[in-house]
Amino acid sequence: MKVLIVGGGGREHALAWRFKKDNPALTLYAAPGNPGIAELATCLPISVTEFDALATFARREGVSLTVVGPEAPLAAGIVDHFRAERLPIFGPTRDAAQIETSKSFAKQLMLDARVPTARALTFTDADRARGAARELGAPVVIKASGLAAGKGVMVCETLADADRAIDAVLVQRTFGVAGSELLVEEFMEGEEVSVFAITNGEWLVPMVPAQDHKRLLAGDRGPNTGGMGAYAPVSALTREAEGEIVSTILRPTLDALRARGAPFTGLLYAGLMLTRDGPKVVEFNCRFGDPETQAILPVWPSEPSLLDLMLASASNDETPDEDIVTHDRGFAVTTVLASVGYPETPRTGDVITIPPAAAGVTVFHAGTNRRSDGALITNGGRVLAVTASASTFEEAQRKSREFAGRVEFEGKQFRADIGWRELARQTAAGHAGAA
Ligand code: AMP
Ligand code: GLY
Repeated sequence: MKVLIVGGGGREHALAWRFKKDNPALTLYAAPGNPGIAELATCLPISVTEFDALATFARREGVSLTVVGPEAPLAAGIVDHFRAERLPIFGPTRDAAQIETSKSFAKQLMLDARVPTARALTFTDADRARGAARELGAPVVIKASGLAAGKGVMVCETLADADRAIDAVLVQRTFGVAGSELLVEEFMEGEEVSVFAITNGEWLVPMVPAQDHKRLLAGDRGPNTGGMGAYAPVSALTREAEGEIVSTILRPTLDALRARGAPFTGLLYAGLMLTRDGPKVVEFNCRFGDPETQAILPVWPSEPSLLDLMLASASNDETPDEDIVTHDRGFAVTTVLASVGYPETPRTGDVITIPPAAAGVTVFHAGTNRRSDGALITNGGRVLAVTASASTFEEAQRKSREFAGRVEFEGKQFRADIGWRELARQTAAGHAGAA
């Protein structure tokens, strides 16, 4: 079987790794891929938005499934393009992808479907937005409605901060058209978790929950990033809570999208806040999360294979058992290594040295490249994601941190505390157990 992965980051490397682990005979292609993916797949010099070139390749090679990683091609309609040519593809149509690409669309859908989320109102007028911020009171959250490369959300401690954020989005147009509308949203307090589900729009199979670490520095300080690390599973979510998330959040959302004539196929990502009143939606994404995928896929069981479920989502000709267990055993901790200057102005071109392989450790390439002399160099903000798997959380965390510490490139930044909340929980549970 032949599979084409669209994308070239750590998430796509993790997908390639999992596919090959389950089926070593698989023929894998990636467009454009990266030097890590190149060890598992043939990388094609095609960008993620060259739909004609991608479809031509898929048809000519008889690719059984094209799997789309990033949101940009989904937002631009790659799935619509492939389906029009009857080529099997995993991901949502452009209409369904609005769950991520338009925060005002997502908010309205949740209101209509009574999905628990923060109260919010949408504005195009700055004065009215400022008025709404005063009604909600500080802290308050200001969000550009469109895709803003993860930078369009501002959690404002004071009303003065909120006024500045509203001005930046609606008046100065810092985010361009992504900020032609904004949301003024109630601030939610709690722990965040990411829950992914594979779906064909009707059935859904949830994956084990993960927790991202968005801030650059240890202790959740410093600027927001694309994600500095993740771990899975998250013990803060019990099996009952997971069931509640399926019945009160994931299923009603899929039903509402179907009712609007935009059934969602692919991977639905629910970013949740575990509030005192139960789990509430912070945001939806229309694709696998990065770096959560690098922690979730290593604890995925070998049966059912991830690829089989994705094929079922794309082909619509079989319904999997929705109650299957998607957690094998153990824990995975992923530590992201970022380049100097990340997230504002990441430097590229620094030579990377990766130590020899260690048991239970997988190094996923995110932003790397090969120089003409063959040297591996940094090529983006997030450079590598080091995932360690182990039977205990503590060991996975220690192995991930230690290996991350031994990778070398100039100006390397990483957090040594990925999973600190889980460690605190487990330590507390240990003490309670011992008492
Ligand atoms: P988003 O891009 O929507 O995931 O938002 C980025 C981050 O902002 C989230 O991961 C949260 O940490 C924070 N955030 C977004 N909305 C809220 C909210 N309503 N209350 C508290 N924090 C929020
Ligand atoms: N880890 C956050 C995201 O993928 O959007």
